[in-house]
Amino acid sequence: MRFDVVTLFPGLVEPVIEHGVVGRAAEQGLVELHCWNPRDYTRDRHRSVDDRPYGGGPGMIMLIEPLEAAIGAARAANPGAPVIYLSPQGRRLTQQMLADRAQQGAAIFLCGRYEGIDERLIEAEVDDEWSLGDYVISGGELAAMVCIDAMTRLLPGALGHGESAARDSFSDGLLDCPHYTRPEEYAGRPVPRVLLNGNHRQIEVWREQQALGRTWLRRPDLLEQRELDARQQALLDEFIAATRKR
Ligand SMILES: C[S@@+](CC[C@H](N)C(=O)[O-])C[C@H]1O[C@@H](n2cnc3c(N)ncnc32)[C@H](O)[C@@H]1O
Repeated sequence: MRFDVVTLFPGLVEPVIEHGVVGRAAEQGLVELHCWNPRDYTRDRHRSVDDRPYGGGPGMIMLIEPLEAAIGAARAANPGAPVIYLSPQGRRLTQQMLADRAQQGAAIFLCGRYEGIDERLIEAEVDDEWSLGDYVISGGELAAMVCIDAMTRLLPGALGHGESAARDSFSDGLLDCPHYTRPEEYAGRPVPRVLLNGNHRQIEVWREQQALGRTWLRRPDLLEQRELDARQQALLDEFIAATRKR
């Protein structure tokens, strides 16, 4: 999968493919990253990429022309990929949005800086707007890196263990179950016994029940969007009853 990022700070974004899961995926040729710096497409001797806002007010606004040229170069190198502007005003990111895009293929991420981008460039060039959440960061680069990491994890072969992504929180609409490793007892807290008994069927059922229970405790909104079958409902009811007894 090819990611293109239009950014004034390529040096901030590029390390995302140098480490960990994304780094390994890049080594395997599963992902590639190309950055396009609007400053390389300026025509004035100051290499200006921003200017004062019409109407006055604080901050600077990113100029249309250098962005348009950088996006044009990215589109030419990655034909058919949508231009996604990372913006606090965009659709709030979900695992499903990332999974859909990862399945469809490439993406061109547009990173804003300063007070943002001239609206006319957004109207003319942007296909979608994604937000990390209801808060404001200083630039779209961190958001682009989040998207690149989260989408890469979903590509077949990117994770060491093929099952891991499917078990992650949100992949099937639930939070993940709790996990444990050695030691068997820590500060008086033992590992749940069922995980030690070697009965894989029981362990699977316990994990499913924990995922359902955790989601009910922490993110009940996710359960509202989901229909449980009778078996899952029984597992959740048992979890709720045990929680209330405690
Ligand atoms: C300081 S912000 C500009 C915020 C803009 N004035 C507003 O309030 O909507 C600069 C850039 O950071 C990025 N950014 C900020 N918050 C973001 C968020 N929650 N999700 C994605 N990108 C964000 C966008 O690319 C934005 O153009």
